[in-house]
Amino acid sequence: MNTTSRRARHALVAAGLTVATAVAGLVVAAPAQSAASTLGAAAAQSGRYFGTAIAAGRMSDSTYIGIANREFNMITAENEMKMDATEPSQNRFTYTNGDRIVSWARSNGKQVRGHTLAWHAQQPGWMQNMSGSALRNALINHVTQVATHYRGQIHTWDVVNEAFADDGRGSRRDSNLQRTGNDWIEAAFRAARAADPGAKLCYNDYNTDGINAKSTGIYNMVRDFKARGVPIDCVGFQAHLGTTMPGDFQANLQRFSDLGVDVQITELDIQQGSNQANAYAQVTRACLAVARCTGITVWGVRDTDSWRTGTNPLLFDGAGNKKAAYTSTLNALNSVSPTPPPTTAPPTNGTIDVNASYVLLNRGSGKALDVYNLSTADGARITQWSRNDGLQQQWQFVDAGNGYYKIKSRLSGKVLDVYNFSTADGGAIVQYTDRNQTNQQFRVTSSGGYLTIVNRNSGKAVEVQGASTADGGNIVQYTSWGGANQQWQLVRVG
Ligand code: XIL
Repeated sequence: MNTTSRRARHALVAAGLTVATAVAGLVVAAPAQSAASTLGAAAAQSGRYFGTAIAAGRMSDSTYIGIANREFNMITAENEMKMDATEPSQNRFTYTNGDRIVSWARSNGKQVRGHTLAWHAQQPGWMQNMSGSALRNALINHVTQVATHYRGQIHTWDVVNEAFADDGRGSRRDSNLQRTGNDWIEAAFRAARAADPGAKLCYNDYNTDGINAKSTGIYNMVRDFKARGVPIDCVGFQAHLGTTMPGDFQANLQRFSDLGVDVQITELDIQQGSNQANAYAQVTRACLAVARCTGITVWGVRDTDSWRTGTNPLLFDGAGNKKAAYTSTLNALNSVSPTPPPTTAPPTNGTIDVNASYVLLNRGSGKALDVYNLSTADGARITQWSRNDGLQQQWQFVDAGNGYYKIKSRLSGKVLDVYNFSTADGGAIVQYTDRNQTNQQFRVTSSGGYLTIVNRNSGKAVEVQGASTADGGNIVQYTSWGGANQQWQLVRVG
């Protein structure tokens, strides 16, 4: 670097600092975004994930696991959590391989998609031969047992997989499960919600990537579920594609998300040919263009790992080299313009300075947000305590971009975190190592000098549980309703 450019760079950095410190209201200068160099980091720029399916049998292959660890931040077990794997004989559950994948993912900071609780295929032999109420009971037991085993560790479950037919009429697929009664799907969703209330619950299928009879059949089911309060949060589109993407792919995602569910691309692979890199970029851009398209998963790491033998449908070649499809996908993720920040009014009593330290006083109790017992550990609970202005009560608002903040303890350096991505009322707020995840990001709105602090992932507000006024009262998330226990006063102390 020559002297002139060094000086210019210095001037820019200095200007950046001035903007950040002199910020008015809640508008914080976002750091200039440089292109991310992995799929996971690039997707995270817009709050999305980028995942892959993992096979337990390949985890000792260092090239394979190295790519998986480097590039992806969402993991699906390719076969290890299916019905035949987890309940090989009735009521005898085996989780060894599923657990291996889940613990590898979580110890490497990745989230997990559970796949799948109920499916006509890959059923254990004992189940294939069952019918009627015995089968229905066995299904509900399976859903309950497996979702309970993994409770708290799963971001999203594919509760039901491939329950619609390819008959051009949008009918249900005929299967032993379907023959137990048309309500088997909703029964499975209700059992999954009861067993793991923190997991998002998805319906997942293939040949549903454009607007067609099959996707419309599913659309009508989801609309009905939403109208009747059946617990469904998302729809997965497998996207096992030929050489092209359907032209109405984005419109299809959009019509589902307009029903009030998230959508995800769950098993993407695209047959190799001259259009592969382009088709990957098109699928990626379609997801980015739909606000509720929250992530993309590819169905394997290298072409040689793919279930579609010989079609080379993935992002890495057999030697682990990045293909043109990898580059086009990464570029598409990096080209996204940041989601417009939500409109947040500045607090009427001042400004948020990202370099300052604040004590947060609850309006209902008058007590301060406090790291319980001066813990510096991940997962430590956050409570309220009589104000003492100790470091365990001092918080820094760190700009997370797009109008969101991380709220960082001056004592521990950890950030407020909705434990395990819970989206449930009462989900615990803890401190955790900053991973820039959406459950660690908060939107702040103000009225009458008090702030409401809403989690990006769950949409729920930070509150004193049960409007407690006691020292040690728990801090949790809850649906925002404007109560005094959900209002916080910022007091600058440093
Ligand atoms: C496939 C796996 O990739 C194969 O290893 C296995 O032999 C069969 O299942 N739709 C799904 C996935 O939901 O579970 C399937 O995975 C691919 C089609």
